[in-house]
Amino acid sequence: MSTVVYKGNIISSESYDRLSVIPNGYVTVEDGMITDVCDHLKEEYKGLELRDYKDRLIIPAFSDLHMHAPQYTQRGIGMDCLLIEWLNRYTFPQESNYSDKEYAKSVYAKLISDFVAQGSFQLSLFTTIHYDACDILYKMLKEAGLYAYTGLVNMDMNSPDYYVDDTDVSLEKTEKFIIEHPDSEKVKPILTPRFAPTCSKRLMEGLGELAKKYDIGVQTHLVESREEAAWAKELYPEFGSDGLIYERCGLLQGNGPKIFAHVIFPSEEEERILKEYDCISVHCPDATSNITAGIMPASDLINKGLKIALGSDVGGGHFLGIYRQIARAVQISKMKEFYEKDYRRIVLANAFYMATVTGGSIFDRVGKIEKGYRFNALIIDDMLDKEYKTSIEDALERFCYIGDERNIFERYIDGNSVDPGEVYQRLLKMEI
Ligand code: GUN
Ligand code: FE
Repeated sequence: MSTVVYKGNIISSESYDRLSVIPNGYVTVEDGMITDVCDHLKEEYKGLELRDYKDRLIIPAFSDLHMHAPQYTQRGIGMDCLLIEWLNRYTFPQESNYSDKEYAKSVYAKLISDFVAQGSFQLSLFTTIHYDACDILYKMLKEAGLYAYTGLVNMDMNSPDYYVDDTDVSLEKTEKFIIEHPDSEKVKPILTPRFAPTCSKRLMEGLGELAKKYDIGVQTHLVESREEAAWAKELYPEFGSDGLIYERCGLLQGNGPKIFAHVIFPSEEEERILKEYDCISVHCPDATSNITAGIMPASDLINKGLKIALGSDVGGGHFLGIYRQIARAVQISKMKEFYEKDYRRIVLANAFYMATVTGGSIFDRVGKIEKGYRFNALIIDDMLDKEYKTSIEDALERFCYIGDERNIFERYIDGNSVDPGEVYQRLLKMEI
């Protein structure tokens, strides 16, 4: 494949605190990989194909590390509730629909093309307890060329009769899913116990064995509200903390990523576990505001050396674009700072780093516009008013606050331009 040169205002993270900005910069891409990033057109690149995006931004594509694929249809519904009522009134009835393969196909084709539209190309997705629907999602993610972890959801107690698995059935289905969906280059399986309150100890221990046997990671929800944390403790009195359940039952033994959503009220024990096992905590600001009460102490966790990525947590969150979670993470951190005098807010550069670098760290060389990284990138419209032209960073901030998919001018995965509409049509035609 020949080298292509892309020109535009390049923004990427230099560090957790700093954006790197190259005005009118050049990115060279060969075989989907970035081979050079520079502030002028080097002699050797003159004469190569040049795509000039002028005042537009060139940024890394986003990673959404916590999202429930089946809940795509319930975005913005049931938002008067808090977690447990929301699960029982809206989510469990809705997720039970995925026993119908046609329903799953129809929703998942829309969802995946929307991920492409929103520029989230690296994902970690919850599904449902239904094997066939999980299989459909896995195959569609592969077909779309996205990078993803996904797994069959485990729940064997405190769930409605119409949406629950017997413990052995849940373990058997999970093992079959892992065996029949081995790691592909881009899409990989992950253990997905819903959360401690819906998983028995025998189920957790069984999943622990699978983690070891298949060297596989885990994603779940952790201390996502005071009620949830207290409930987990009550159900597992011998452990005394939500996080210890996963450690003691062996779920952190595999080599794959360990992803914990929310982490709003972590104990010292939980912080130790998150650090010791190199876990990623996923901040989901919209979901926090909608259904899980409390705000993740993001800056405190960062200061303690923990890793934080961002998640849309649709349908607890109501919007799929991670760029909006960047803005929301800053907004709600100010609320926390206002009410808690010792708390320090986070800023745009911090949240952008979470959405690109940390989120991308569980995938292969994504998350930066830098030599050696994949060209998984977005071309973003310059949305600044011409009368009030300020800085390139301002253009990124404006996009995060008021932009949407219509302001994403072009999308590249592995150096290939992708079109959400084309992806949607292709997924609909799949024989699965
Ligand atoms: N805890 C258990 N299930 C869920 C879910 O579906 N969404 C969120 N946000 N939290 C959960
Ligand atoms: Fe969630």
